[in-house]
Amino acid sequence: MADGSSETKSSNQMWGGRFASGPDAIMEEINASIGFDKKLYAQDIRGSIAHATMLAHQGIISAEDKDKIVHGLDTILSEIEGGAFEFSRRLEDIHMNIEARLAALIGPAAGRLHTARSRNDQVALDFRLWVKEELQRTERALTALIGAFLDRAEEHADTVMPGFTHLQTAQPVTFGHHCMAYVEMFGRDRSRVRHAIEHMDESPIGAAALAGTGFPIDRHMTAKALGFREPTRNSIDTVSDRDFALEFLSIASIAATHLSRLAEEIVIWSTPQFGFIRLSDAFSTGSSIMPQKKNPDAAELVRAKTGRINGSLIALLTVMKGLPLAYSKDMQEDKEQVFDAAESLELAIAAMTGMVRDMTVRADRMKAAAGSGYSTATDLADWLVREAGLPFRDAHHVTGRAVALAEQKGCDLADLSLADLQAINPAITDKVFDVLTVEASVASRTSFGGTAPAEVLKQIAWWRARN
Ligand code: ARG
Repeated sequence: MADGSSETKSSNQMWGGRFASGPDAIMEEINASIGFDKKLYAQDIRGSIAHATMLAHQGIISAEDKDKIVHGLDTILSEIEGGAFEFSRRLEDIHMNIEARLAALIGPAAGRLHTARSRNDQVALDFRLWVKEELQRTERALTALIGAFLDRAEEHADTVMPGFTHLQTAQPVTFGHHCMAYVEMFGRDRSRVRHAIEHMDESPIGAAALAGTGFPIDRHMTAKALGFREPTRNSIDTVSDRDFALEFLSIASIAATHLSRLAEEIVIWSTPQFGFIRLSDAFSTGSSIMPQKKNPDAAELVRAKTGRINGSLIALLTVMKGLPLAYSKDMQEDKEQVFDAAESLELAIAAMTGMVRDMTVRADRMKAAAGSGYSTATDLADWLVREAGLPFRDAHHVTGRAVALAEQKGCDLADLSLADLQAINPAITDKVFDVLTVEASVASRTSFGGTAPAEVLKQIAWWRARN
């Protein structure tokens, strides 16, 4: 029985030697982690095979026992993957579930597997392997998202849209440039992922309970077999450390924050009022009462998942903050936070990749909005500095008066007559109209990293070479 309720209250077969009776049902319930750490079965089996192989190589167990152990573990792997394995809550966690099954399969040789090892270094190993693999998945997912943005950016390198500050029209930019802002963000997330993989690329197994072991083990051998760069250097730290999980969660939180800002923009852009994009049917939903509606639910859920992911980071930071060295059972609470955040992040990145790839960009709507709100006012001020020699502060003032006049007339800056402009400042000539269009404004911003289409294409090429 998975909940153990009908099982007898005998003491635990793994550690119950000094116990006269088994745990209270509540004790069993609070203690058990099998409900969630069964996710680590593949890592646990891989770690045990590497450990047993090393023990035999070092002459600590016989080759015969090692073969039995490895064969038994292979059987267990296929039992679990085939759905035939019965997990027991009475056996607490994945480590003891597998070891108990191994004993049932191969007999006393199973008892030799735990030589020179503890569940403390075992769980540190399993979880580290899992997080490392998850980071590798995250890296691939971010690469796909960046790729989707690069395609859209290239396609829209000269599609003009309003650039905003305070969500008020500021200056015209291109949609390609805006997309590339997200490429920069997700690119930084991906390099954080790569650094984290490097940080955690050390094997915990062999630290044993906390002090290392007197058996002549070879930790470099297990590290190599498990794909780690090298073994960890301090056995106390090894079983106490959950930085790799915290690092994953903090990277996930920052990436989710980027995803959430993008989600917010998608929600705003897809309103009829903005109308900058149309989401594909595949990534939106309808309303059961209002037939005209198309809702950006996927974007909203990406925005909401950020709350969950941030919550996981805070939860684990709080679990860890008061723990004396080395291992404490509190640390068992690390896994659900990481599993939940990982699932949310994977889903959020995948949904966002789909939305970005499929959305229709409404260039006409963007362009119309780009010209409103006197977005080329800075271009007028810059022109006055460049062509009429005004100090910028004076040019700012003159431009302010031109904006006020246009506002009063209910027209755009470019629609003011030359006479109107010259009445404000006589130095203005008809050449000024060359800079008052949104296209001219955008094309003029050729500074490195600026919004000019030629500059945006350069940045796209830089990223293409790195994606
Ligand atoms: N299930 C435990 C965890 O996830 C495994 C380590 C248990 N170690 C111990 N000394 N009780 O942390």
